[in-house]
Amino acid sequence: MTQGPLTTEAGAPVADNQNSETSGVGGPVLVQDQLLLEKLAHFNRERIPERVVHARGAGAYGTFTVTADVTPYTRAAFLSAVGKETEVFLRFSTVAGNLGAADAVRDPRGFALKFYTEEGNYDLVGNNTPVFFIRDAIKFPDFIHTQKRDPYTGSTEPDNVWDFWSLSPESTHQVTWLFGDRGIPASYRHMDGFGSHTYQWNNADGEVFWVKYHFKTDQGIRNLTAEEADVLAGKDPDSHQRDLREAIERGEFPSWTVGVQIMPAADAAAYRFNPFDLTKVWPHVDYPVIEFGRLELNRNPRNVFAEVEQSIFSPAHFVPGIGPSPDKMLQGRLFAYGDAHRYRVGINADHLPVNRPHATEARTHSRDGRLYDGRHGGEKNYEPNSFGGPYQTGRPLWQPFDAVPGGTGAHPTPRHAEDDDFVQAGNLYRLMREDEKERLVANLSGALAGVSRDDSVERAVENFRRADADFGKRLEAAVQALRG
Ligand code: HEM
Repeated sequence: MTQGPLTTEAGAPVADNQNSETSGVGGPVLVQDQLLLEKLAHFNRERIPERVVHARGAGAYGTFTVTADVTPYTRAAFLSAVGKETEVFLRFSTVAGNLGAADAVRDPRGFALKFYTEEGNYDLVGNNTPVFFIRDAIKFPDFIHTQKRDPYTGSTEPDNVWDFWSLSPESTHQVTWLFGDRGIPASYRHMDGFGSHTYQWNNADGEVFWVKYHFKTDQGIRNLTAEEADVLAGKDPDSHQRDLREAIERGEFPSWTVGVQIMPAADAAAYRFNPFDLTKVWPHVDYPVIEFGRLELNRNPRNVFAEVEQSIFSPAHFVPGIGPSPDKMLQGRLFAYGDAHRYRVGINADHLPVNRPHATEARTHSRDGRLYDGRHGGEKNYEPNSFGGPYQTGRPLWQPFDAVPGGTGAHPTPRHAEDDDFVQAGNLYRLMREDEKERLVANLSGALAGVSRDDSVERAVENFRRADADFGKRLEAAVQALRG
């Protein structure tokens, strides 16, 4: 706790923090009471815009340790030796709820991880699901509008959600996942994480591999039923945030076993699924998950606003040896996050302690802007120059993509031999045990019962029927029983 007399923002001692200054006893308040004005004005500006999605979250610092040699696949320095440790910061979140929303809801969970590497910060901004609802960034704002509040009612509307999903059959896989048991994790500690997109790794010889990241919880998967979640969300809206903080305070450090699926670049063109389609997984029979690391969270932030609310993660933050893939969703995200950070936190967001590199320093010629701290002193702010200072390396972080056919145009994501919108949703359904199928159908029919438009419900059921005939049949019967 800070000691000594209370002061104003400018450091002058404060005589009275209980009574504002008035003209006579019981008279009006004076403008000369600068402490009062400063307090009221600062208070009015306490909030910054919340994240447009994933507003509600919790974070912790920790350590990533390499447990297997991946140098044949990537030249990333932080992955260069078994046993090597890198500091990390991980922010978990829900997607749709606003800042004060309850944690125990059916929603994907964000899994945003910042590696403070010696070659700069590497951000892996993933979810607890291996796939997503859509495959093209151009649909993201529309999708999120249906998850957020309706412009007329001001509430979230099942009609909007199911109208969009039923008209976007590529969402069938992710929706099947979301309404299954894993749709409401018991806590952030009891769920897996995924990079979800396909990313590029490239090794010291310039060879390219496409990879997908997996973080398997060492705490075991634990979920809540819809009924349990309804009760918990009301009783303890902060359940996930509290669970994470208290576990770390108790010294029970949550950990994840980190793995990667690796596809040699030459496989991509002929693979049975488009490897850059975010609505699809790579079945493990095709590309097994290879373990290469351990992630542990072991330190709570000291100040939630400074370190969690102002933390920024960008899928465009790569380091040498790691890069993007041509996944159209990922390509859109490469723009969206930096733009959001500049709006939400400001142009110098990267300079904040939680966001700046910890194992190296940022050396740019960018300067000034709101809240610039003058860190560059009198150094030259341009390059090339004749005064020394930072210079370009000539070596890109990632390798070029293969040549692509065709002209410019609004091209749909190319389909590979086994690609359609339903096959993997059906495979997921068929993998479930009987009791899991029953809960899935109950959760879906319960949600569809709240939809007013018959055409949306029919289209939705048809999408699940196309995934699996039994799935569709059961769902139709359950929906009919509830809607009449
Ligand atoms: C084109 C599709 C997408 C767009 C345009 C988009 C955009 C955004 C934006 C603007 C934010 C707020 C960033 C901020 O204010 O700091 C955000 C947060 C987030 N997004 Fe996305 N997103 C997309 C898809 C995805 C996908 C597919 C995933 C996971 C695989 C994902 C995971 C996250 C996470 C985890 C956060 C929270 C990051 C944090 O904790 O600060 N997003 N997204």
